Amino acid sequence: MKKTKLSVIMGAAVAMTALMGVSQAAAKTIHVTMTAMENEVEIDNKGTKYAAWTYDGTIPGKVVRVTEGDTVDFTLINPKENKNSHSMDFHAAEVNVLDEFGAVKPGESKHFTFEAKRAGLYMYHCGASTMAQHIARGMYGAIIVDPKEFSDAFPKADREYVIIQSQFFPDAENVGAMLENSGWTNSLINGKVFHYDPVHDANATKALVSKPGERVRIFFVNANINMPVALHPIAGIWDRVYLNGSPKNVLYDMQTVGVPVAGASAFDIVSPADKATNVAIVDHTMSAALRGAITVLMNNKDADPTMGKGDKILP
Ligand code: CU
Ligand code: CU
Repeated sequence: MKKTKLSVIMGAAVAMTALMGVSQAAAKTIHVTMTAMENEVEIDNKGTKYAAWTYDGTIPGKVVRVTEGDTVDFTLINPKENKNSHSMDFHAAEVNVLDEFGAVKPGESKHFTFEAKRAGLYMYHCGASTMAQHIARGMYGAIIVDPKEFSDAFPKADREYVIIQSQFFPDAENVGAMLENSGWTNSLINGKVFHYDPVHDANATKALVSKPGERVRIFFVNANINMPVALHPIAGIWDRVYLNGSPKNVLYDMQTVGVPVAGASAFDIVSPADKATNVAIVDHTMSAALRGAITVLMNNKDADPTMGKGDKILP
């Protein structure tokens, strides 16, 4: 009899805990404002300037991170000083292309909301005409929609890094070349040639870091104009790949995985726990790799504990 009473009490406690869990995970509204800017940026580690178009001044734009079920309340400002219309296309949104994603003229702004219903990793970009030019000049970024719950199938990673690859066309006005896929000279990783590769670029000062044995999740977005990416970790194997970043789409033990133009996936790598190692994350498409699409991940016990966490996922 006593036992039954106890189990009833325990059952109630479990139910209460579950309810509290639900209220903690209640959907939120995330306010995001971006300003379209036509400004110069540095596109390599030695400081070469380029007449970019950006969100908030940087290539790529900031990482937007929400949880499945959240509402994104978004405002795009296009200052009157700009010469061009701009827009915002969140691949995580299911809306009306002619309404929410419509172009915003200089001096105007646009506000819209959407519910991020599907967990995953998505590109965002400007879709104003000509779209190829607006993306090539730098108007893109990533939005991560975390699942409501993590699980064994989709565990939390020890570190996370966002890597966005793009094609660099030095002649920013030559839209014809962009459409013909001619004239591009380099691959940019988060806006710079060999951004995190001190092996191939003596001017590079940064690399991705982790400690041996940690699970590192690379949120990879292909912001190229025309070229798919063949993502491969040299001296490593992808432990898991989540296509589109979705917990539902898991592949195991992969060497090279394709990422289509305007696609994105989450790549997990776990380095050997018993020694220091280095891995080079490359687009194995050689015309891209040797023009800038190589990123070094250094795994050693002295790794900066703050890197790959919080706001340091886009170093
Ligand atoms: Cu634009
Ligand atoms: Cu798109």
